[in-house]
Amino acid sequence: MSPAVDAGSRQQMRERTRYNPLPARIRVPLYPVPWSLAQLLRVSLGRTAAKEAPWGLLARAGADVAERLGGRGQVLLTSSGTCALTLALRALKRGDTDEVILCSFNCPSVIEAVLGAGMVPVCCDVGEAFNLSVDTVRPLLGPRTRAVIMTHVFGLGAAAGALQRLCQEAGVALIDDAAQAFGESEEGRPLGSWGDFGVLSFGRHKPLFAGGGGALVCRDRALVEPLRRQLGPAPRRRRRDALALLAVDRASRVSSSVRASSLRFTDVVDALEAYPSDVKLTAMDGLSARLLLTQLPLLESYGLRARRFARRYVEALRDVDGVTVVPAYARGLPNFFTLLCPPEQRPALAAHLSARGIESTWLYYPLHRLSRFQRFARSALPRCEALWMRTLCIPCRGWHDEAQIEWVIRALRSFRAAPAARSARQERQGP
Ligand SMILES: Cc1ncc(COP(=O)(O)O)c(C=O)c1O
Repeated sequence: MSPAVDAGSRQQMRERTRYNPLPARIRVPLYPVPWSLAQLLRVSLGRTAAKEAPWGLLARAGADVAERLGGRGQVLLTSSGTCALTLALRALKRGDTDEVILCSFNCPSVIEAVLGAGMVPVCCDVGEAFNLSVDTVRPLLGPRTRAVIMTHVFGLGAAAGALQRLCQEAGVALIDDAAQAFGESEEGRPLGSWGDFGVLSFGRHKPLFAGGGGALVCRDRALVEPLRRQLGPAPRRRRRDALALLAVDRASRVSSSVRASSLRFTDVVDALEAYPSDVKLTAMDGLSARLLLTQLPLLESYGLRARRFARRYVEALRDVDGVTVVPAYARGLPNFFTLLCPPEQRPALAAHLSARGIESTWLYYPLHRLSRFQRFARSALPRCEALWMRTLCIPCRGWHDEAQIEWVIRALRSFRAAPAARSARQERQGP
């Protein structure tokens, strides 16, 4: 390759790994906060809330989560999904050479948890959709394999039954990482309740947002107490953190300049290379537990609305030039509603959305492409390699409203319709 071509392809790669541009004024955020300031204050300052002992709260919220998973395990509430995953892996660990198979098209927290548990990650390619499949996992199984982490990427269910059978035949543990799929089922069984352990997350980008926190679902109830004893006490500053989060959320609707990530990094890979690897093993804090208790009864209605929005996208975007809609969204619960488009078109499409006040992002830069994780891939992972350049995630939460979703559809449908021809009045209309 000539130096000129080399520089050209480096420039092209830089273009592809850049964060999507943020709107100057956000009309349709990707991850809105589902609760208002008044609700937050009621939850955090309420008299009944203040009186209940933290362990009582955690037990009550944990039992509520367990019930929603069909009572298939006991639930331990943790400070994050990463913490829950690390605890599960620690419980499974027998030695320092234990290997854990995970999808490379994934959130970096998953590989961080494997390393945090002192085990060896083995990066695996995706199958037909965004998830691991029996065909991609099977060749990686070996005498050192201790567990497979079945992440349901973007909230679309992996082939849980088939993967569970494969793991049982191979004598390895299965961890059902439903951090993005709480509320979704496969074969009539809730995700998070498959395998030996389940993992949930209640962070901002997840199906249910409780200001943070996670859950470990233990099928073997005898493990719960020993695992609970590994957890430190919950951090105490949560109320102030939640208020700060809400303030940033409100402010970011006016100007994106307050967002710390966009100030520090413009490139996803730079940000990921600097990703913190220190996972704290602590219990869920009282504020998140209380927010969780108020949000849990809404899980179903959020899910119904998000599914409805996803179906609307599938139907309305089917014939948009250059955009492919993944058919699984017609039935699945979207945690991230992800379109596929040609790599060279993605920056322009993201800029087009941004100009109309719509936030978008793209996910996932394959873990094995990051310098610190490269050694954990045994061979090329061609599907991950091809996928990340083509994804574009658009707003689709159960707490968006119809007008916002319709605005996104109009924006996407107008992408090729020469923006100059559109009247200024049309441009100003929004949700
Ligand atoms: C698939 C998956 N697993 C685990 C986690 C970790 O959850 P948390 O952010 O609560 O630590 C995440 C977070 O984004 C995730 O997407």
